[in-house]
Amino acid sequence: MSAQKPETPARNLEVTGFTQDPVTVSALEESDRQSLMHPFSALAAQATADPRILARASGIFVADVHGNEFIDAGSGLWCVNVGYGRGEIADVMASQSRTLSYGMSFSGLSSEPLIRLATKLLQLAPGRMTKVLFNNSGSEANEAQIKIVRAYNNLRGRPLKKKIIARRGAYHGASIAAGSLTGNEVVHRNFDLPMAGILHTDSPDYFRRTNRDLTSAAFASERAAALDRLIESEGPETVAAFIAEPIMGSCGVIPPPVGYFEAIHAVLKRHDVLVIADEVITAFGRLGHWFGAPCFGLEPDLISCAKGITSGYFPMSACLVNEKVWEVLTSRPAATGVFGHGFTTAGHPVAAAVALKNLEIIEREGLLENAATVGRYLLEQLRKRLGSHPLVGDIRGFGMMCGVELDANKHSHQPFDDAQTMGSLLSKLCWEQGLIVRGGHGKAMAALAPPLILTRSQADEIITRLQRALDRLAQHLEQQNIWRP
Ligand SMILES: Cc1ncc(COP(=O)(O)O)c(C=O)c1O
Repeated sequence: MSAQKPETPARNLEVTGFTQDPVTVSALEESDRQSLMHPFSALAAQATADPRILARASGIFVADVHGNEFIDAGSGLWCVNVGYGRGEIADVMASQSRTLSYGMSFSGLSSEPLIRLATKLLQLAPGRMTKVLFNNSGSEANEAQIKIVRAYNNLRGRPLKKKIIARRGAYHGASIAAGSLTGNEVVHRNFDLPMAGILHTDSPDYFRRTNRDLTSAAFASERAAALDRLIESEGPETVAAFIAEPIMGSCGVIPPPVGYFEAIHAVLKRHDVLVIADEVITAFGRLGHWFGAPCFGLEPDLISCAKGITSGYFPMSACLVNEKVWEVLTSRPAATGVFGHGFTTAGHPVAAAVALKNLEIIEREGLLENAATVGRYLLEQLRKRLGSHPLVGDIRGFGMMCGVELDANKHSHQPFDDAQTMGSLLSKLCWEQGLIVRGGHGKAMAALAPPLILTRSQADEIITRLQRALDRLAQHLEQQNIWRP
């Protein structure tokens, strides 16, 4: 397929101040091929791949070293909530680096930004969260949750109650344990995952239900019944926790059907199973609220958050622990001894200062409200302008998080056989139109999660570019005799 330049040349970024000299750029590209091992990439293809070297970003826009500008409708990896290039965050980072450039949180050591941040998170969090354990990444947060859950049941004298249930398709990280929670074969293959003690139940992907006559309420009950059967077959005395994103993100923006979490909770309560909400994507405004769990009746004992906590300006994540779990963790000091967990840079004072400033911006600029109202507008306009597109099967979303999923047959909702490849093609065509979208693992789709500062006219522009990419895709598939409208 021939490359097509974005048709909207309007510049939003100053694209000077970095090298655009073709010789230097091609040397950089060659060095990238020679020296980097890119995560989530086909390693053998790296030797000949063209790396995309980003140079500059501001607001919702990023530019590469060739001077091409893109709207980043994926907020990087769902994380740049307040948008790129915030001078006041850079200032706080510099100033905190001068004052206290490093501080650990082991053994009672602390720092003022960290204490203020923990207090703030507990004020914002739903449920009866009472303590915060800081880490560096979403994977680390979920890894730590597994340890907390294990310690919890050891202290309750239930050493067999250790298994954790996640959902197929869910993304919870890429480390050995968090990667095991992830319900995606790409993360398991090559690494002998999932590890023992991690189980998966079906996702609440109502759009891709096999029985199309099923109501969403019946579908939700069916999923809860399947979870119940899994727990019963494993033995409830061996199942410790269930982990879920309020809306599934990386696997394709999948909101729970109405009544889903209520039905799931009934099962979990009956079997004395803890609930971990993975709010790594959904917290800090993505859904128009500080946290996503209350939007869908998800009532967690433990919450993982990361990404939007610093809007990606500095690595940081947090585990929030509720009173019930904390009480047990502190109930038998002699048996527990030291909680042997922590990382050198976890609870970093610079990360904490950045997070505080980031949360202040979200509050001051009303970004929760903007995510809700502009997000709703984005969803409405997507439905209005793309709903009848012959490739589009479903348009869904909540807050500033939308998914446009393609069907091979719009009427029967037959998916494409090789949906993943179709999704990659769409993403490539979006880049050519000056638009960065996220995909959905195993799905032919564009996931949109723009920075929360998005305006209505920018939302319109995203849809225009996406529409052009869809038209190009349709044209290409027809030419190749792969698909007909
Ligand atoms: C819901 C969710 N949990 C956990 C993670 C892992 O976070 P990290 O990549 O920071 O380890 C991600 C990353 O995309 C995520 O989307």
